[in-house]
Amino acid sequence: MSNNQVHTDDGPEEKETPKKNGAILNIGIDLGTSRSAISASNGKKSWVESYVGWPKDFVARKLLGKPILFGDEALENRLSLNISRPLESGVIRDDSESSEAAVKELVGHLIQQAKANNGFKRTRAIVGVPSESFKANKMAIKRLVADFADEIMVVTEPFSVAYGLDALNNAMVIDIGAGTMDFCIMSGTIPAEEDQRTVFTAGDHIDRLLQTYLHERYPHADFTLNMVRRFKEAHSFVGDPEDEIRVEIPVDGKPTMHDITAEMRRACESILPGLVETMLELIAKFDPEFQKKVRNNIILAGGGSQIRGLREHVEKVLQEYGACHVRTVSDPLFGGADGALSLAVDMPPEYWETN
Ligand SMILES: Nc1ncnc2c1ncn2[C@@H]1O[C@H](COP(=O)(O)OP(=O)(O)OP(=O)(O)O)[C@@H](O)[C@H]1O
Ligand SMILES: [Mg+2]
Repeated sequence: MSNNQVHTDDGPEEKETPKKNGAILNIGIDLGTSRSAISASNGKKSWVESYVGWPKDFVARKLLGKPILFGDEALENRLSLNISRPLESGVIRDDSESSEAAVKELVGHLIQQAKANNGFKRTRAIVGVPSESFKANKMAIKRLVADFADEIMVVTEPFSVAYGLDALNNAMVIDIGAGTMDFCIMSGTIPAEEDQRTVFTAGDHIDRLLQTYLHERYPHADFTLNMVRRFKEAHSFVGDPEDEIRVEIPVDGKPTMHDITAEMRRACESILPGLVETMLELIAKFDPEFQKKVRNNIILAGGGSQIRGLREHVEKVLQEYGACHVRTVSDPLFGGADGALSLAVDMPPEYWETN
């Protein structure tokens, strides 16, 4: 992962100019627990780890030279900052105003990246959020984004992923994020609440378990949750291991290699029961004539979809029920933001007005 605070990509060329599209800039945002991304109709894209930090005092402010820091840069300077990771377990943390302020700053920051040098008159933004956040925080998010866009719509993250892939009918998206695993079954319309499920065992859960298992096995090894997350992102897997996983962790200050294969497997496999059970339950509820089609159109999205062996495991489970096809999105980082952007471009005016 890069150390830049924001990771931007201007794209090969500007796709839409103010003149070409009637001066509307369409924006898709994926507001995530661990990472947030933006994709805009002018071709700009960027992402940032979902951390916001404010200098603790005037010394910190002088040292850092700015009033607010984001992403990796905030994490690296966390000792000088009041730092916020505003989403937890799929919703905005309930801690007075600071998490809401952090969401606002984060979204503002991403939109600013996308708008640079813009001559657009109007901005329309679709914000994809975890399903729980959609239920609990939809109005708050609309209010927080209102300063940066003229028209805003909030949708669930798996729906924006499905839309971006054109998987609008007889398909299921399983978005494995940091805070939650969100399921959405598509039946040719905008999904309703009963078409969606949320399970709270996702990336953060794996990190916490792996940390516990490693503490138990190596009580003298000195590591943080952040290091554990990096181990996971480099070596995650389910099923039989291909190789031994060895990582460097200091013991009494001395860099020492540790075998973490069994612990990695156990922690990553902890999400399987919830994933399989929820997926089968949603399929069983679907119109029986179309269940086979859904089994042949399962899409794994989000950062957790990169766990080695996961796709094969899900496919193996489903094979007991007949023919099936499970695929993984090609771009877990921008899949949600790109889908939200496609939705913004296609959305008829009456939807914006009535939303
Ligand atoms: N190669 C990998 N193997 C396993 N997990 C990974 C890998 N790469 C990233 N992750 C994990 O994926 C999660 C981040 O995924 P994503 O960006 O989709 O989540 P999010 O949108 O921030 O969270 P949420 O959707 O729950 O709000 C983190 O827990 C991260 O550690
Ligand atoms: Mg997400």
